[in-house]
Amino acid sequence: MSIVVINALSVPDGAPNAELEARFAARKHAVDSAPGFEGFQLLRPTGGGDRYFVYTQWASREDFENWRQQGSGKAHAPSGTKPVATGAELMEFEVVEL
Ligand code: HEM
Repeated sequence: MSIVVINALSVPDGAPNAELEARFAARKHAVDSAPGFEGFQLLRPTGGGDRYFVYTQWASREDFENWRQQGSGKAHAPSGTKPVATGAELMEFEVVEL
């Protein structure tokens, strides 16, 4: 059963935030080879919110934890610049088989 992990990133001054989107675009393949990684999308808020959702899907929770603990470096390697995001909240789900 796949799992979904969403990281909600708060951005100052609301969306869109071109710099945040450019940073994700520059690293969009950085997680491709992680075992169990099934895809991610960067979701831009359109209803007046100030949080982008980083929607990620994984084959198992263990795969996500392994990436987080060992392999997320390429996605999150320091860029030498100040982060855009001012906060982050993690949400975890199982995909319900219907
Ligand atoms: C659910 C899994 C993920 C977690 C737990 C996570 C965690 C985080 C956190 C805590 C931040 C904020 C860091 C800060 O503001 O200093 C962040 C930012 C970022 N993440 Fe992730 N992330 C996830 C998935 C991804 C994926 C799949 C990518 C793919 C490239 C990615 C790329 C980035 C980038 C480029 C930023 C920089 C945003 C900025 O400049 O403020 N993240 N991530």
